[in-house]
Amino acid sequence: MYEQALESKKYIEDKIGSLPTVGLILGSGLGVLADKIANPVVIPYKDIPHFPVSTVEGHAGQLVIGELQGKVVIAMQGRFHFYEGYTMQQVTFPVRVMKLLGVEKMIITNAAGGINETFTPGTLMLLTNQINFTGTSPLIGKNDERFGPRFPDMTTVFDKKMLEIARQSATKLSIDSVREGVYLGLTGPAYETGSEIHMMRGMGADAVGMSTVPEVIVAAHMSIPVLGISCITNLAAGILDQPLNHAEVIEVSNRVQAEFLAYMEDIIASI
Ligand code: 6GU
Repeated sequence: MYEQALESKKYIEDKIGSLPTVGLILGSGLGVLADKIANPVVIPYKDIPHFPVSTVEGHAGQLVIGELQGKVVIAMQGRFHFYEGYTMQQVTFPVRVMKLLGVEKMIITNAAGGINETFTPGTLMLLTNQINFTGTSPLIGKNDERFGPRFPDMTTVFDKKMLEIARQSATKLSIDSVREGVYLGLTGPAYETGSEIHMMRGMGADAVGMSTVPEVIVAAHMSIPVLGISCITNLAAGILDQPLNHAEVIEVSNRVQAEFLAYMEDIIASI
């Protein structure tokens, strides 16, 4: 896989002027940040050798590389999910390529369900930690030491300095919807039952979603510091007496878009 990641890296490198230092993974409804990137080079995933091929209709599925707040960034507009049938290695392949391109830090975002009852839809949750509840790991299999160690440390992956910058930025911009908490990631695609959410609350989770955890594990493997941000789009099952639907997820992420954009730009300027 290392050689494949190198080939992907070379393909991208040949298309761009300067190498990115900040990697961004943009979750459902949050991909608009990529439209703010100046002098963008846009590369559809399907053109990049060894990149997984997107199966979902109407999925942006592209890398956008350019300048944002004085930094060269590389953004994934659309990510790969395990529930789509990709392997964990495919889901996390872009993270490996970003690291080979020179990325020093990553901001990983997602839309998530609120487990913490004090969260309302529209809350932006800074990830202080995560729980891998996918039942698997992108690191299963023979380890390639060129990427990282067999048993990577996970205690420092959510970078304290970036977290502090994100806190200060929320204060500075008076964004009062910013909270902190633990993200629990599972495979989906079905939403959870009320009983599952009850259990997960007991485990210490504040939010639940179907992404991020594999990417964070691979970032830890490659020693990339991560800032994680969840947009809480709805309360998880069993809190309100009403069914969950994907339309609500999209509606809320659209509603908080302007605030999310301003927040991300300010954080990127400061990290
Ligand atoms: Cl409630 N659960 C999961 N797994 N993912 C979500 C969600 C809930 N809300 C948004 N994404």
